[in-house]
Amino acid sequence: MNKRFVVFAAIIALAMVFPATQAFAGGQSEPAVSQQVIIGLSLPTQREERWVRDRETMIAEASRLGVDLRVAVADADVAQQAAQVENLLAQGIQVLILAPHDANAAATLVEEAAADGVPVISYDRLILSNLVDVYLSFDNERVGELQGEFITSQVSSGNYIVMSGAPTDNNAALFKRGAMKYIQPLADSGAITIVTERAVDNWLPENALNIVENSLTANNNQIDAILAPNDGTAGGAIQALSAQGMEGSVPITGQDAELAAVRRIVAGTQSMTIFKDTRELGTAAIQAAITLAQGGTVETNNVVEGVPSLLLTPHVVSADNVDLLIDSGYLTRAQIYGD
Ligand code: BGC
Repeated sequence: MNKRFVVFAAIIALAMVFPATQAFAGGQSEPAVSQQVIIGLSLPTQREERWVRDRETMIAEASRLGVDLRVAVADADVAQQAAQVENLLAQGIQVLILAPHDANAAATLVEEAAADGVPVISYDRLILSNLVDVYLSFDNERVGELQGEFITSQVSSGNYIVMSGAPTDNNAALFKRGAMKYIQPLADSGAITIVTERAVDNWLPENALNIVENSLTANNNQIDAILAPNDGTAGGAIQALSAQGMEGSVPITGQDAELAAVRRIVAGTQSMTIFKDTRELGTAAIQAAITLAQGGTVETNNVVEGVPSLLLTPHVVSADNVDLLIDSGYLTRAQIYGD
């Protein structure tokens, strides 16, 4: 046999083994859906507006590409999410997109999926399991850096309240690590004092409200800056400030570009938010799920805790660049400013 023929035969053989992957393996191009693909999606909550949008995006993208998407939403509850994922697996899903309520507890669900031969995409929040196939999220440490850089550039001396997100959420640790790169050196030099440092259980705004209320009382309202990990907790904190007539006079961070938060930015009671385009993430997740269902390889740009990851870029939004949200179509001018 001549050499050329051997190479040719090998290519033909490969094409026969991996027919579906040829069109899109590693590429940006859309996966073509030939047979009905069944994807399971398990979301942790719909409390924050962003998760509502993630859900809507994925439903729309799945219908556009003609795949059968089965959606389950847990109300920030480990047991409920476990039952829902088991139910999805029993329905014969081919891929599972899982945004965990609890990063550690969800590892068991990944094991169950793996035992059924179902690949798992860890969505937005990392599941702490080495059986996760792909992690799709934003650069979460960068989110924290942007928050920390912003707040320290606004307030370089005085008393800080430092809040972090739910301890069950791996993202919370990443956000805080990023923010502390800017805050800790100021605390170490004595320029600022961190008078309160607390995690907000379950990401609940009312817990943030309590933390800030107690800190205001304990410090005779002498608070100069607040690190709030997301818009929901910022909202709670701002309510506590309002009760003391202090809203708008204490710089405070946020994240998610929720409509209510963007309105507060325009009104001057919240200083910034982080825009993470969940439309891009949701679309990428459905496309990645189809790729995995067809035996292909998802394109990634990072490795997080040993898991191949695709991390999208977060952006700061403050009063100076609210138009970024309007121009990208994430929110409309009418929504933000009223008609
Ligand atoms: C997400 C944030 C969200 C928070 C609370 C985090 O894991 O990345 O966008 O605000 O959870 O749901």
